[in-house]
Amino acid sequence: MSDRRRTREAAARAAARRRPREDAPTPAESRLDKVERPDGPWGAGVVLTLLSRREPPNRLFETIARGHGPVAHYKMAGEHVYLLSDPDLIIEVFLTRAREVMKGRGLQAARPLLGNGLLTSEGEFHLRQRRLAQPAFHKQRIAAYADDMVREALRHQASWRDGAQVEMVDEMTSLTFAIVGRTLFGTDLTGDAQAFGDTLEELMSGFGQLTAIGNERLVRALPKGRHLLSRVEDLDAVVQRIIDEHRAKIDAGEAGDDLLTWMIQARDAEGADRFGESMTDDQLRDEVMTMVLAGHETTAMALSWAWWLLSAHPTVAGRVAAEATAVLRDPSYDDGLRPATIGDIAALPFTHAVVAETIRLYPPAWIMGRRTLTDMRLGDWDVPSGSIVLGSPWIMHRDPDLWPRATSFNPDRWLDAAGAYDESAPGQRRGAYIPFGFGNRRCIGEQFAWTEAILLLATLAARWEARLVPGSPVDTQAAVTLRPMHGLPMTLHRRPTP
Ligand code: HEM
Repeated sequence: MSDRRRTREAAARAAARRRPREDAPTPAESRLDKVERPDGPWGAGVVLTLLSRREPPNRLFETIARGHGPVAHYKMAGEHVYLLSDPDLIIEVFLTRAREVMKGRGLQAARPLLGNGLLTSEGEFHLRQRRLAQPAFHKQRIAAYADDMVREALRHQASWRDGAQVEMVDEMTSLTFAIVGRTLFGTDLTGDAQAFGDTLEELMSGFGQLTAIGNERLVRALPKGRHLLSRVEDLDAVVQRIIDEHRAKIDAGEAGDDLLTWMIQARDAEGADRFGESMTDDQLRDEVMTMVLAGHETTAMALSWAWWLLSAHPTVAGRVAAEATAVLRDPSYDDGLRPATIGDIAALPFTHAVVAETIRLYPPAWIMGRRTLTDMRLGDWDVPSGSIVLGSPWIMHRDPDLWPRATSFNPDRWLDAAGAYDESAPGQRRGAYIPFGFGNRRCIGEQFAWTEAILLLATLAARWEARLVPGSPVDTQAAVTLRPMHGLPMTLHRRPTP
């Protein structure tokens, strides 16, 4: 097939993915005549600041929220945007009135990749897909995944050398990528990690820029657009291979016991007449891509930020290592440490607290957006149907009115008087700590993520110390996830065998 035809076909598939399903809700017509809008910045100024990259978006939004109160407003690309920074209002929109909103524009950039998967789909279709995926995240399944998580971490660190320099973001990304493949799809993805990771990074930033153009044909006409679409094809090929392998196993009577096998075999009696008997290949592709992306990038960023914070706070790093070593010490293993299990989490309260504090300061999903489907009154303001409403973990987690010493890294705030981990120990208001979102759109992988982050950190920090290469700049890059902008070059130091 000619390159031109392949590109045309890839573009057509990507365009189809970008369109919401026909049964997706649409905002009702607003009954409000003329509304007064809250105070806020000049919209074009916001766009210019974002385009000029003078200030990263997370910091820009924080400045807007702090400067304009609990509901700030600006107009951007013809849309009315409301930025909320009050915990009660966040709860109202994202939880209490979750059925009166749908996902916002933010994820549109990732739609050519994610299609109508769990992150982006809406309404009853989303509910059905969520019900199908839910069993993969039950408690017993997570317990079974925990052993795979630790096995992958031990295998990964076996290639680390004392004194070697690594790029920690890449290390954590390839590790969590392998884990998602192994646990959710029973597939070895280690060989695909690098190519997948590089492609993903390029796509996330590239599509972000091209979405601003907003014209499908123009995007296809641009060399950059054509290039990105061909990169989507590369990822599609990996996903299609995973689906084909699963189908072959099912046909051979050797079906595995994993999320994709269930999805292929799904017969959702309740939804059958409405959505057809089983998931189409396109739908499977969207769900697999969504799980692979949502299931590894966020946890990889949480772990990367944790390594950086430990490097900047050696006493805290020492406490994590001491706690993990005390729990895992076992002279019958070569390195004096046994593999961690899910049962160890209760005995790792400080490691747990370090993860909680890391995603407070550096929430990997740093912003959540919704489009209102009805008129609603938020605080003192009438917000018309069809508006964009934003809530940001970055802003809430760093609010000095909600957190004492809000910007300090202080894992101890998560421990109770007896030293046990307690998610309410900081005494924060409901809605002030929102790293995994809310309600019907709350992160389906939350328990997976806690288990993975705590066990990986304990496994690795008991054996290794990582120090940031002196002079390396560290700042946030707020793309789809919150990433270290310049990566994290770190030197590894083997801890002595206990
Ligand atoms: C530290 C790690 C993670 C963080 C901070 C995180 C955060 C979030 C947040 C905030 C949302 C809601 C977004 C919104 O409401 O707009 C979400 C949704 C989601 N997450 Fe996670 N996540 C993490 C790990 C994971 C993992 C490990 C998986 C899968 C294995 C996963 C799969 C998903 C999926 C599929 C959704 C969409 C749920 C739906 O809309 O029904 N996430 N995540």
